[in-house]
Amino acid sequence: MKRLMVSTLFAALSLSTWSAVAEDKPLDPVAGKSLYETYCFMCHDRGLGNAPRPADKADWAKRLPLGEDTLFKGVIDGPSHMYSKGISPVWSEWELRSMISYMMGTVTDADSQKQVNTASAADKERHLNLLHGRKLYEQVCFKCHDYGDLGAPKLGSPETWEERKDKDIDALARSVIDGKGHMYAHGGSNSRSISEFKSMIEYMLSSLEKGWVSPQKDCK
Ligand code: HEC
Ligand code: HEC
Repeated sequence: MKRLMVSTLFAALSLSTWSAVAEDKPLDPVAGKSLYETYCFMCHDRGLGNAPRPADKADWAKRLPLGEDTLFKGVIDGPSHMYSKGISPVWSEWELRSMISYMMGTVTDADSQKQVNTASAADKERHLNLLHGRKLYEQVCFKCHDYGDLGAPKLGSPETWEERKDKDIDALARSVIDGKGHMYAHGGSNSRSISEFKSMIEYMLSSLEKGWVSPQKDCK
């Protein structure tokens, strides 16, 4: 009985974490290319929803410095991917990493190779935090905040945030948790940890930065 419980627990853990199936063999961009052409091309070849396109240096300029490991984490935790919803057509971490390595290889020449994996730990963490925040934001918050309904401060619209500019992230998170005006408590979402609400708000605030590109809704 004990052994059964242990093996059940182990099976549950292996299913829930990709790292449990990590393999030692080196990544293979050639195998990655053929997998890419099966699973990824439909969005990435066309840049659907701002998906970075292979061979397009501009699409990858900010991503090469993040390195393959951070991009991998973004794919399994961020928005836009099946993996982040726990549904995966590909079962091995090695396969997914090989696909990403192929994609990165399409834009790396001798010069840009120097950029790979040069971002600071803080920048990598911020990137993943914003992707996580965006994924949660897109579950509920977008319903009002994409459109500015009922006086909701709008994504990508600094004017609508003006009256809140002196509030820090803790005060903003407090408003969401308690509810404010036409916003229900928890922004109408399931109860989440404070740090998750902060990730969502950080994503919303990042949309006010210059040069921000709105993610399209045609690709989920
Ligand atoms: C349904 C469409 C879709 C499919 C299929 C898809 N992607 Fe993406 N992918 C996206 C979008 C959209 C983004 C941009 C997300 C964003 O705004 O950061 C993205 C971003 C990425 C990134 C950059 C992540 C980051 O942190 O910036 C990588 C790497 C990636 N995808 C790899 C893959 C791989 C590998 C596959 C195939 C196994 C795949 N994608 C399949 C839509 C897709
Ligand atoms: C039903 C629509 C609706 C939903 C869903 C919603 N909001 Fe809001 N939100 C509003 C409105 C309306 C306001 C403006 C409230 C006011 O100032 O009276 C607001 C205000 C805010 C503010 C500014 C608070 C302040 O102190 O000024 C933040 C931050 C925010 N929402 C985040 C979120 C997050 C995160 C989610 C998802 C978990 C979310 N909202 C879901 C309608 C909504």
